[in-house]
Amino acid sequence: MIDWTALCARIRALTEGETDEIALMATVACELHHADERFDWTGFYRVVAPSLLKIGPYQGGHGCLVIPFARGVCGAAARTRQTQLVPDVDAFPGHIACASSTRSEIVVPVLGRGGRLIGVLDIDSNRPDAFTDQDRRALEGMMQDVFGTL
Ligand code: SME
Repeated sequence: MIDWTALCARIRALTEGETDEIALMATVACELHHADERFDWTGFYRVVAPSLLKIGPYQGGHGCLVIPFARGVCGAAARTRQTQLVPDVDAFPGHIACASSTRSEIVVPVLGRGGRLIGVLDIDSNRPDAFTDQDRRALEGMMQDVFGTL
């Protein structure tokens, strides 16, 4: 099981003082991806136009390049600004299957200062029901820590 306290502290130390969104996303994606064997794809989609997400820094196999807010789990997180915890991707209407091996996923909105929507963090697992409410809380806190003042 992942040690969220240690991981959050390491990411805070690594990203201290950095304000470039891409540099921050690349560092977080790398650290997260290698921290837990449940994570098979770990990365960011960035808001690049009204209602449009584009691929950002990630680790894992190639991801879809463009996701409209209207589509998939990432789109739902961006649209609602609520974390989407999906225990079974096959049961999620409109799920975008970038990798057929994905069984479950969590997508957390990334908000900057004043609630500006920067993008979403997407973690996919090849295991069914891989993510817990503790993961959700830890990831939401981490996104607030790293991006909340940008
Ligand atoms: N599963 C996501 C798409 C992103 S790729 O799998 C990396 C979704 O439905 O939003």
